[in-house]
Amino acid sequence: MKLTSMKGKHIICFCLLILASAVSSQHIQHVNCPFLYLYHFGDGFTDVGNSIYVPSRTPNPAARLPYGRSSPGWPTGRWSDGLNDFDFAATDFGLPHLAPYLNMNASENYDGVIFSVARSPVLDINFFRSRGIKIPAYAAVPLSAQIRWFKNYLNSNFPSAKELANRMANSFLFLGDIESNDIGYALAQGKSIEEVQAYAPIIIDAQIKIARELISMGATRLIIPGNAPLGCFPYILTALPSNNSTDYDELGCLKSVNDLIVSKNDYLQQAIRNLNVEFPNITINYGAIYDGPNGELALVACCGTGGNYSYNSNRFCGRPKVPVCRYPNQYVFWDGIHFTHHAYSRMETVLIEPALRTLGCTRFNSTTSNLSSSM
Ligand SMILES: *[C@@H]1O[C@H](CO)[C@@H](O)[C@H](O)[C@H]1NC(C)=O
Ligand SMILES: *[C@@H]1O[C@H](CO)[C@@H](O)[C@H](O)[C@H]1NC(C)=O
Ligand SMILES: *[C@@H]1O[C@H](CO)[C@@H](O)[C@H](O)[C@H]1NC(C)=O
Ligand SMILES: *[C@@H]1O[C@H](CO)[C@@H](O)[C@H](O)[C@H]1NC(C)=O
Ligand SMILES: *[C@@H]1O[C@H](CO)[C@@H](O)[C@H](O)[C@H]1NC(C)=O
Ligand SMILES: *[C@@H]1O[C@H](CO)[C@@H](O)[C@H](O)[C@H]1NC(C)=O
Ligand SMILES: *[C@@H]1O[C@H](CO)[C@@H](O)[C@H](O)[C@H]1NC(C)=O
Repeated sequence: MKLTSMKGKHIICFCLLILASAVSSQHIQHVNCPFLYLYHFGDGFTDVGNSIYVPSRTPNPAARLPYGRSSPGWPTGRWSDGLNDFDFAATDFGLPHLAPYLNMNASENYDGVIFSVARSPVLDINFFRSRGIKIPAYAAVPLSAQIRWFKNYLNSNFPSAKELANRMANSFLFLGDIESNDIGYALAQGKSIEEVQAYAPIIIDAQIKIARELISMGATRLIIPGNAPLGCFPYILTALPSNNSTDYDELGCLKSVNDLIVSKNDYLQQAIRNLNVEFPNITINYGAIYDGPNGELALVACCGTGGNYSYNSNRFCGRPKVPVCRYPNQYVFWDGIHFTHHAYSRMETVLIEPALRTLGCTRFNSTTSNLSSSM
């Protein structure tokens, strides 16, 4: 995630996710950030296990292998073959001990609590229902409901006003990525680009309203990420086939969808600038995760089958006889909707690490050298 302090100029980042080998440092670095706790609201990119605890009448793919196959070797409820986006980010912040809200151990002290639930949108279910868009309502926990969970968590853990204020002042709150689903459900079900374009301000206004609410609760540090380029995702490419090559960019992504995402991200950045003017003493960042995947197998799902992108919603990853690629590290997309462990780790190296300074985090080297052997 490339972070842009919105007090300055307007920056859009097109960062290429390069599938080169990761550089691993021999030196153990420690990080000091000006916050102690992380709270994340979002979707399957950052869900660390909540979705398998949401009561559902259909089996949850992420509860079974091959999910979790690369790390730790069994399913954890993450929608990838291993870790995901926020696991890496939290480690970078030096705050790696995370819990999914629905599976917390009361006797543990966590660095962060994750409220993200795979398949969740920003907007409430009625928005989609009234427009004839089907969403997995049994599984989705919209942003407003995740915020209600957060309030319950705060009320039961920090009953005194002083404790609560202290906790909020020392926290860093992540509000998304989650709107990929609002847009993705609509596009995948045949809503036109123009129609979905009109949803963008509604989605962003809802996010900003929630940001204001969190600020009124005492939050001092917030980040609202933009969207990844949905026009490159196997499930969108499969849903919107075209036989006109001019519809695709040089990577094979759908231009119209990515243009929509870029303009939506622009609108969000403007909204964050306005929020920074309104609350000059609060840090509100925009996180650019607009990464065009690169590499030969970039647009093909590792786990899946069918069509040009190995994606078929009726034969989703985890179903019987659905094939899994042999080398997930050569793929960007895991199940057609989410990234692979490797791609998330690349995002971290390319986007999050360089952003640490913007967030006021400083690094220092370990004075002991024997830590390396324990890693
Ligand atoms: C909760 O945490 C405690 C202390 O770390 C541990 O002893 C216990 O086994 C944990 N309980 C569960 C259900 O994981
Ligand atoms: C392109 O696809 C449309 C349907 O999407 C079809 O009607 C048309 O015949 C196709 N044209 C070519 C040249 O394949
Ligand atoms: C492909 O799309 C372009 C731009 O929309 C259009 O100008 C062109 O006529 C289309 N080609 C075909 C074969 O439909
Ligand atoms: C920010 O400034 C407002 C007054 O403009 C004040 O009420 C509020 O307490 C300040 N918040 C923080 C975290 O400093
Ligand atoms: C799959 O790709 C081939 C070659 O690019 C193309 O001719 C074909 O139309 C594509 N199929 C679908 C369903 O998009
Ligand atoms: C930590 O060590 C590495 C390798 O020796 C060096 O490049 C880097 O500048 C050091 N960082 C700090 C903060 O001292
Ligand atoms: C090795 O690490 C341990 C703690 O991890 C520390 O107590 C010890 O002093 C270290 N030894 C050396 C030689 O650095």
